[in-house]
Amino acid sequence: MIDFPVYKNDGAKEHMRALIDLKNIIAKQLPKMPKEYITRLIMDRKHESMLILKKSDTQNKVIGGVVYRPFEENGFVEIAFLAITAIEQVKGYGTRLMNKFKAYLQKKGIKYMVTYADNNAIGYFKKQGFSTIPRIPKHLWYGYIKDYESGTLMDCYLNPDIDYNNISNELKKQKAALLEALKKCYHFEIYKGLELEQKEVKRKRKEEDLESEKVFSSIPGIAESGWNLQLYKKSLYFY
Ligand code: COA
Repeated sequence: MIDFPVYKNDGAKEHMRALIDLKNIIAKQLPKMPKEYITRLIMDRKHESMLILKKSDTQNKVIGGVVYRPFEENGFVEIAFLAITAIEQVKGYGTRLMNKFKAYLQKKGIKYMVTYADNNAIGYFKKQGFSTIPRIPKHLWYGYIKDYESGTLMDCYLNPDIDYNNISNELKKQKAALLEALKKCYHFEIYKGLELEQKEVKRKRKEEDLESEKVFSSIPGIAESGWNLQLYKKSLYFY
């Protein structure tokens, strides 16, 4: 049902149509970004796009994608835009796209992804393993990518030992292994509380009650009016 092809401006009709569809999605999702600028980058031959194609019997529909510029000799890619069409958001497509993208880049020997994220997107990128504290050595990216004043520079390290295509299963296995290891470290035995201490607590409470009763009754007029601490407490309960 879902495919993740990588297209660029190579003149093929099918690719060009899909790239224009992606441009329209990005323009809608990032309304502050000038449409001409989006078109220029998507159609720039140095940029590539990984799309999400939803397939049906009658058509292939583009529902989102990521536009990026590879700097293969420096081992990183710069993400320019990433968007999912409105009705398909928060269904996990953004995460799936990112995992497919990571696996694809890993195969090409790319080690880092870099992007300038606006404030709204920082949360999403953090969930995808990006950080605002750079891990990529500065000499690899500095001077190569465009500086955006309003964005926050974020990067993501692509660990060669992680199978990004299968990451949710890998995480489940890691969690189970961690819990198993923790169980071995702790003894989950529940001991009965000490009888002596409980008796001591009860005795203290009784003493405190008697003390309060004494203080209450010593208020002038209280005893004459027929009040005592028990009646006072009851009245609090009713109101
Ligand atoms: N801020 C914080 N968290 C976000 C988020 C945002 N803007 N968008 C999504 N998330 C969270 C989701 O709640 C989800 O969290 P969970 O795993 O704890 O449930 C997680 O990120 C992944 O959600 P997912 O459904 O896979 O993402 P998506 O399909 O909705 O796509 C975007 C995410 C950002 C691509 C999409 O919201 C979008 O197109 N936004 C507009 C364009 C944009 O801002 N692009 C990024 C900058 S170029």
